[in-house]
Amino acid sequence: MERRTVEWVVVSNDAAIIATEKGDLWFHDLTDCREVSPFAVPMTGEGSPQTTALLLNGAVALGFGKDGCELQSGAATLPKFVFNLVGAYHNSRRTPGHFRRAAQRLRAVGRPDIAAYLETHAKEETGHDRLVLKDLRALGLPAERIVENLVPDGVRPLNDLFDRLSSADYPVGCIGYSYCFESTAALKQKADVDAMQALCPDGIDATRFMRTHSGMGSEVDHVEDMIDFIAALPAADRIEIVKATYETAVLIADCLRREGHMPDAEIVAQIQAAAGEEVRLPA
Ligand SMILES: [Fe+2]
Ligand SMILES: [Fe+2]
Repeated sequence: MERRTVEWVVVSNDAAIIATEKGDLWFHDLTDCREVSPFAVPMTGEGSPQTTALLLNGAVALGFGKDGCELQSGAATLPKFVFNLVGAYHNSRRTPGHFRRAAQRLRAVGRPDIAAYLETHAKEETGHDRLVLKDLRALGLPAERIVENLVPDGVRPLNDLFDRLSSADYPVGCIGYSYCFESTAALKQKADVDAMQALCPDGIDATRFMRTHSGMGSEVDHVEDMIDFIAALPAADRIEIVKATYETAVLIADCLRREGHMPDAEIVAQIQAAAGEEVRLPA
């Protein structure tokens, strides 16, 4: 009989994500069938790039929720764009160090394969925080002072999650955290970048970070590499990674929802307080 890969992961108390090699993706509610459902038991089989990608992208979609597409459509005003950049700084500043620390730990527990992957990824992500600083400076803002004094409220839980996943005894989940950010960034197209650029005053390039973290930059390759790498890992690792991807998507969505509801005046006030001087951001 022909063998077909099926992968599944229970990402929260009652939701299982199931992916098949035929390209089907299901969200299965275990609430009333936990005792009898085969998907309540952790998968143990091999992955494949196709099913693992479906599973990971399913985790992102489920975590983002019904308003996910809307949330990902991006900041529509310059203050929101700047606020997002400040959040991105705190994430990208952490990445190389967190990945190296996780790599050290994984090497110590006998997983040199994952350690080597994280070390490569740490190199690739090095310097991305500086792109944010350049973008903020281009807008005439005191970049260092702002990022030192401001961590947007919605970003804090994400920072905490990344800190926790990367310093765990077995920190494979930090790959899932990263997958969520990279895969959603890779969906951004030139038109999305141009739309943000259009919010900036003429002649000012404040989209270095965004370009790098879009389909125009290196993210598409990073995501493909990540899928191939994750698909080849044992089931227990894939489960942890998909769960972390889901958890990250839930928090990113919370953050975007919260920021979406913030009036620009409040965002400008927070940036101004962090800058310690008056800032001009045409709304
Ligand atoms: Fe990056
Ligand atoms: Fe990347």
